[in-house]
Amino acid sequence: MARTTSPGGRKQTITLTDNSTGKTVEFPLLKGRLGPKVIDIRNLYGATGYFTYDPGYTSTGSTESAITFIDGDKGVLLHRGYSIEELAEKSDYMEVCYLLLNGELPNRAQKREFEHTITMHTMVHEQLNYFFRGFRRDAHPMAIMCGVVGALSAFYHDSTDIGDPHQRMIASYRLIAKMPTIAAMAYKFSIGQPFMYPRNDLKYAENFLYMMFGVPCEEFQVNPVLAKAMDRIFILHADHEQNASTSTVRLAGSTGANPFACIAAGIASLWGPAHGGANEAVLQMLGEIGHTKNIKSYLARVKDRNDPTMLMGFGHRVYKNYDPRAKVLQKACHAVLKELKIKNDPLLDLAMELEHIAVNDDYFIERKLYPNVDFYSGIILKAMGFPTSMFTVLFAVARTVGWVAQWSELIEDPVQKIGRPRQLYIGKGRRKFVPLSKRK
Ligand code: ACO
Repeated sequence: MARTTSPGGRKQTITLTDNSTGKTVEFPLLKGRLGPKVIDIRNLYGATGYFTYDPGYTSTGSTESAITFIDGDKGVLLHRGYSIEELAEKSDYMEVCYLLLNGELPNRAQKREFEHTITMHTMVHEQLNYFFRGFRRDAHPMAIMCGVVGALSAFYHDSTDIGDPHQRMIASYRLIAKMPTIAAMAYKFSIGQPFMYPRNDLKYAENFLYMMFGVPCEEFQVNPVLAKAMDRIFILHADHEQNASTSTVRLAGSTGANPFACIAAGIASLWGPAHGGANEAVLQMLGEIGHTKNIKSYLARVKDRNDPTMLMGFGHRVYKNYDPRAKVLQKACHAVLKELKIKNDPLLDLAMELEHIAVNDDYFIERKLYPNVDFYSGIILKAMGFPTSMFTVLFAVARTVGWVAQWSELIEDPVQKIGRPRQLYIGKGRRKFVPLSKRK
């Protein structure tokens, strides 16, 4: 990690003065390769006796990382230095997985070997079929994902020793490879169709579509345009720096928990409507608005402070500009609708009109609220035939590589220790216990 020093060669520092005591303490300023400088406050408590207070971690960097960089003001997203636009246009998901895990794009031989290895891990333990049967048929597929992925540690004991680099690697491959299989099983279970075994002759995204939409009693040809769109959706969701679910994975990982348990924790965190659950919420919102003529009244509710209604798919903790992934998805959305010969899709028309009105509205301009990746992903996934309950599941499938890469980075980082934030205590002070007989 590049760190700047002042022109004289001295380390840059920042000084904090405590007005109550007049004491000053210096803290080192760290500079990453890109992005703003960071105040290293690791010795803050030791030097001053104070903690920091930062709900939602809006000003807190929890780790060094060499995987993903975001410039939220400019709408830039880089994976290992490559822009998301270029990766989505010129690369494929397996390459992006390799890149996130290894730091470099693969050459031909490396790519072939990596794809082969992932393909060889796509089947799940046969006993897992019976595990599925314990769920209700109407269970939300994300509930099934949390349970089944957590249970992988009960099936793959030989890759839970986090101190062994080989086991860590096998666990990473297993998670990336098996996630589409488990996701498709969750869907098939919910509609009462037989599980489809993965096919080794198909590429990652193709295989997923086959397991989702194929049935054992007939041939299923995967539409190459849809497979390409699926692959692109996977690329766009592959990693996103220290977001809520990734931080959850890292926090769980910092305790030494096994990788399957950590990724299950990430899936649970992703489920929330403020995070990965937003794409499902976008479609519900579009359904509620119903028609372009209702946009104005809906936006009035969104802007009303006394009304909890949010414009789902808008706003982002980091992006204060267009989410670059939303732009790519908007294009992909048109390609899919064209391929499926869906002309004048009312949902897309409504979404585009809503976007147009919102981005020109002072409320959204002042707050720098732009469409995020979830705004268009729901529409494209719906057109491809996915039920809304599967949207966040697809996000989890794609994000698994990001979680795994970040988890591996954490385990290999000698600086990391168990994640343990402190608090600003506002409860009662110490008081005497009152026996039950004397309580009023
Ligand atoms: N609709 C209406 N107003 C909004 C929205 C929105 N979607 N998002 C933020 N605001 C408003 C807030 O009410 C606040 O207004 P105020 O200053 O008048 O109080 C202001 O914009 C700043 O918002 P914050 O809550 O401080 O923004 P924060 O960074 O905490 O939240 C978040 C980001 C959670 C993504 C939020 O924008 C949101 O809930 N959006 C809708 C859900 C969504 O699309 N989530 C997907 C995120 S991307 C992803 O996970 C892949």
